[in-house]
Amino acid sequence: MGKKKGVKNPWADHLTRKAKKEKYPARSVYKLEEIQEKHRLIRPGDRVLDLGCAPGSWLLYAAKKAGRAGQVTGVDKKKVTVNLPENARALTGDALEPDSPVFAQIEGCFDVVLSDMAPATTGRKEVDAARSYALCMAALAVARGRLRAEGRFCCKIFTGEDFTQFIDSVKTAFADVTIYKPKSSRKASKEIYIIAKGRKKEEDDNVGAQQMVDDQA
Ligand SMILES: C[S@@+](CC[C@H](N)C(=O)[O-])C[C@H]1O[C@@H](n2cnc3c(N)ncnc32)[C@H](O)[C@@H]1O
Repeated sequence: MGKKKGVKNPWADHLTRKAKKEKYPARSVYKLEEIQEKHRLIRPGDRVLDLGCAPGSWLLYAAKKAGRAGQVTGVDKKKVTVNLPENARALTGDALEPDSPVFAQIEGCFDVVLSDMAPATTGRKEVDAARSYALCMAALAVARGRLRAEGRFCCKIFTGEDFTQFIDSVKTAFADVTIYKPKSSRKASKEIYIIAKGRKKEEDDNVGAQQMVDDQA
């Protein structure tokens, strides 16, 4: 049954007002805040990569948590127009294209890779879930290539028939994998977050990224 027109969700309205008051461009920031409070993903001094960063709420929040010694880089197909602090930047590009020039602008390894990427929804749950799965696999590939050993990964997925397969893929690369539904995520929404910690060392791990770090040292 579809959502009734004109029926408001007071909780969502409350979070939208709160985000506006706290100068975040989207209320999605409160999902990351809940994840952070529970899982302590971002630590002072961290290098963070935020995939699907527009309009910029997670970027702003991650920049606060990483602090002045940290650095946050966002990537999105859409341009981020919100003003960012000195320790954050947003690049425009498509995360589904690993050879996109955007990734050539991103140097070195990260402590945290976040992905809040979501496809434009069609209303057909199986189509949306399949597109979300493709974005998640792209995010996981970036995490595998760019995360330091012991690094952390957080990824949104729309649950569907590929969900278990995605979890299995994450488990091959991380020691500790948790599924988490923030309270600030609508109950009716199929979105859920995968929190993965303890990036395992793999053969030919981070070779390109580590080389760049070594070259800069
Ligand atoms: C829910 S929004 C992210 C909100 C963001 N975390 C925030 O707090 O402001 C999902 C984003 O994923 C982006 N996205 C979808 N497909 C993408 C892709 N292939 N590459 C990069 N970004 C993508 C969309 O453009 C959209 O801005």
